[in-house]
Amino acid sequence: MVELINIEKNYPNFNLKVNFKVNEGEIFGLVGQSGSGKSTILKMIQGIIKFDKGLIKIKNNTETAYIFQEFNLLYNKNVFDNVSLPLILKRRFSEKKVEEVLKFVGLYDKKNSYPISLSGGEKQRAAIARALVSNPGLLLCDEVTTSLDKTVKDGILDLFEEINRKYGVTIIVVTHELEVVKRLCDRVAIIEKERISDIFSIEKKEYNKENVNYTDYVRGVLK
Ligand SMILES: Nc1ncnc2c1ncn2[C@@H]1O[C@H](COP(=O)(O)OP(=O)(O)O)[C@@H](O)[C@H]1O
Ligand SMILES: [Mg+2]
Repeated sequence: MVELINIEKNYPNFNLKVNFKVNEGEIFGLVGQSGSGKSTILKMIQGIIKFDKGLIKIKNNTETAYIFQEFNLLYNKNVFDNVSLPLILKRRFSEKKVEEVLKFVGLYDKKNSYPISLSGGEKQRAAIARALVSNPGLLLCDEVTTSLDKTVKDGILDLFEEINRKYGVTIIVVTHELEVVKRLCDRVAIIEKERISDIFSIEKKEYNKENVNYTDYVRGVLK
């Protein structure tokens, strides 16, 4: 779905060089400490910033969408108008489509509300709806749960899981929160010292009431 081949990005005190490939349909995590280059990588994939060397291959005709930690909603527009915006910019506005994604993210009853009156989780749902409205094949998520508290965070993670399972959207999740990667991702790449230091699959340890005893499940996750 996406391949970064010998990508180099140089800032005065930062020289990133990375290679990795994300498969179609997977949820791929990118972890690293603050300042390790996670957002830089995601923005290069989205085309918001340029790279100095290398090549980024994205599957033909793939629509990509970017979701920011800080939501980036327009505060002078209501939820419906915020979510409509990508379609209006592409001259393919459809009220039905906007309402469909608002229902999907659970925000239909807030469609006339302004961002100022929404909770953090609701703002993130509005941002997710705005990203989904143009039917992306690739969703780029930059620290999207970092500023949310535990319960709200779980709801948002469930939503990403549903977006991946139901619509087959490939998702790249950038975060420094390891529990988010553990819960959501199929594979993860670690960035350290301006390079990818490791990439591996994540064993999904889900609590399945039918055949796993709860104590064993908790032990398996925590020990
Ligand atoms: N526009 C810029 N000019 C100079 N340095 C930058 C710029 N953007 C990012 N950097 C540097 O690149 C590094 C990686 O930044 P970033 O990708 O935002 O990290 P992360 O998202 O992992 O916290 C940091 O050291 C940061 O200071
Ligand atoms: Mg960042």
